[in-house]
Amino acid sequence: MKISVCGKGGSGKSIMVALLAKELSHRGYQVLVVDCDESNSALYRILGFDRPPESVLDLMGGKSKLKEKMSVGFSKGQPEAKMQVLPPDQILVSQLPAEHVRHADGLTLLSIGKIQHSLEGCACPMGVLGREFLGKLSLGKKEIAVADMEAGIEHFGRGLGTSVDAVLIVVEPSFESLQLASRIAQLAAESRVRRTSAVLNKVTSAEMGARLTAELNKRGIRPVGTVRYDPQVFEAALEGRGLGEGTATADVRGIADALLAET
Ligand SMILES: Nc1ncnc2c1ncn2[C@@H]1O[C@H](COP(=O)(O)OP(=O)(O)OP(=O)(O)O)[C@@H](O)[C@H]1O
Ligand SMILES: [Mg+2]
Repeated sequence: MKISVCGKGGSGKSIMVALLAKELSHRGYQVLVVDCDESNSALYRILGFDRPPESVLDLMGGKSKLKEKMSVGFSKGQPEAKMQVLPPDQILVSQLPAEHVRHADGLTLLSIGKIQHSLEGCACPMGVLGREFLGKLSLGKKEIAVADMEAGIEHFGRGLGTSVDAVLIVVEPSFESLQLASRIAQLAAESRVRRTSAVLNKVTSAEMGARLTAELNKRGIRPVGTVRYDPQVFEAALEGRGLGEGTATADVRGIADALLAET
């Protein structure tokens, strides 16, 4: 199963990815976390690694190499959402060079690529690469890929939805977050994603949870669980260290149950 975790900026996508990845790996799954966010760079810390992996972008020769390949596609009139910049074969994580992956306890992290320099141009090559990489990724029965997306919906324009089986929308308690969830659900449906659901995050009371659930139901979005506001998560995120045990760790178990029940 390939899950992309989407939502508004700061809603808790990266935290949710880390919580889910840890929970699934504790259950005996081999979890591949794919960092598709070209801006933020601390996911490796939240997962407890001491340094990030080298990017897939660098493995493919860097951004300018990818841009060259894309310009060939553009000259043939291909849309970005269909462009191929990788070799045609399926991708096995075991074949990636060691410096491009980080492993720990049934969990593997890799990163598509980050914006590094001023004036380097847009992040389109990372978007195209992320979509194609996820699409070609070959997973065994007990393997799950969880992709941490950049905020917003731009990746849907690049066809990300065609490369994953499920979209999990992280919703925090705000109108903006709920509205974006509706857009994401709509775009996921257009991309024919098989399963789209939402998780409520940073919830501070049962009343708030019930109200947000009602808002999701109104919008036709299926909630699969709630992660309460957890001071332990806040502390770890502030200090840039791995997540410990707290209410969020407990809350994510039900979400993992719901996602696995659908596989
Ligand atoms: N359940 C939670 N309890 C407490 N704080 C939380 C929780 N989830 C997220 N946070 C806080 O929200 C912040 C943003 O979370 P996170 O980085 O996961 O969001 P994001 O959606 O990945 O952001 P971006 O769009 O920038 O990638 C964290 O730094 C943390 O302080
Ligand atoms: Mg993030």
